[in-house]
Amino acid sequence: MDKLVIEGGYPLQGEITVSGSKNGALPILLSCMLIPEEVTLAGVPELRDIQTTCHLLQLLGCHVERTPEGMTVRAGNGLQHAAPYDLVRTMRASVLCLGPLLARLGRAKVALPGGCAIGSRPVDLHLSSLEKMGARFEISGGDINGRCERLRGAHISFDFPTVGGTENLLMASVLAEGETILENAAREPEIQDLADFLNSCGAKIQGQGTSLIKIQGVSSLHACRYTVLPDRIEAGTYLAAAAITNGSLTIRNCPLWAMDAVIFKLQEMGVNIEAGQDKTRTVVKPGGDIQGIDVTTQPYPGFPTDMQAQFMALMSVAQGAGMIKETIFENRFMHAQELMRLGARIKISGNTAFIRGGQELTGATVMASDLRASASLVLAGLAAGGTTTIRRIYHLDRGYENMEDKLSRVGARIRREKE
Ligand code: EPZ
Repeated sequence: MDKLVIEGGYPLQGEITVSGSKNGALPILLSCMLIPEEVTLAGVPELRDIQTTCHLLQLLGCHVERTPEGMTVRAGNGLQHAAPYDLVRTMRASVLCLGPLLARLGRAKVALPGGCAIGSRPVDLHLSSLEKMGARFEISGGDINGRCERLRGAHISFDFPTVGGTENLLMASVLAEGETILENAAREPEIQDLADFLNSCGAKIQGQGTSLIKIQGVSSLHACRYTVLPDRIEAGTYLAAAAITNGSLTIRNCPLWAMDAVIFKLQEMGVNIEAGQDKTRTVVKPGGDIQGIDVTTQPYPGFPTDMQAQFMALMSVAQGAGMIKETIFENRFMHAQELMRLGARIKISGNTAFIRGGQELTGATVMASDLRASASLVLAGLAAGGTTTIRRIYHLDRGYENMEDKLSRVGARIRREKE
């Protein structure tokens, strides 16, 4: 296993370019199973979760290849219906196979994703909504076995604006018979991108980005070339990295239109951010002390839960007190204990973290527990005096493309070592 070793205390200086979105590319890649012809996707990031997704597509019978033009996926007509447990357990989002496989084959066998570090993460809303479209599920031997005739359009209202549930239902409905209405749908930019991609392939989706999405089923989809949207969470992480080191960074390929909540909260802390006119570039400049604030995670367009851990690191060094309320996942504070090893003063009460701030952090060895917790520890290490060693950074590699290279190029003293 690899670890990261960081000598903290160096303000970042220079330019970082954001890669394609992990949570955008992943559902778009799986949705290629809806299209028999070869699709070319530009901007697909080089990440472990993307490698896992491509491996899954290959196991399901697709031809997948990374070429100079981008990632090509050809589902053809030889799709298999079973996604194996050994692969699904490494990436819960494999459950997003259900929609495309039921739509194309009328059957799907996907291992029930186990729990994960940040919460139980059930998929009950996925299954109950697909049942309204005519799918029948049986859970046996740890697998979800789904069957259906041709899926029928249905009027679905989600109890919770589930991102994965909305994505699964979007993919299930584009080839269904008749109209599907999704109420209380998730509004995340990655869902808008999935719908825009599918419309480029001939689907008839309206309302993506709002909580009411309408899909008219079509008989088939055709190939297209598409560029995946940039990663708003990676971009937010690097904005926080500039802020925590009181550095000066220009972030290119930044999806500013999808980052209002994060940028407003950084500015509320006193971070000196100038959003570029062209909506793809932003500049952070040294602004002196930052102040602790209150943050509550919400479904988009509220403050994203995927930036919560990074803000906890930021608030650990801010002046004054801060409060973070996590409303999306039930166990997403594991980074707090590790931040405390670096000297952060944090109290957890239920789904709320109270951060005392005003603390000089000092380097130590810490353990990554999940993807965004890892990013939080990197940020804290960049600010801490002395050496911070972060173990189990395979978590980080799931969602950040070449993080240590991108940070080294803007002055961070960070290197990867074998354990
Ligand atoms: C997606 O997860 C993202 N993953 C997560 O990013 C992100 O944190 C999350 O959306 C919220 O924005 C991908 O896109 C691959 P949900 P997902 O369905 O789809 C409950 C990262 O760090 N729920 O909106 O699993 C669930 O338990 C990852 O990049 C049900 O109860 O999110 C959770 O508490 C982490 N039943 C809440 O809803 C269901 O059937 C949010 O889940 C589905 C969800």
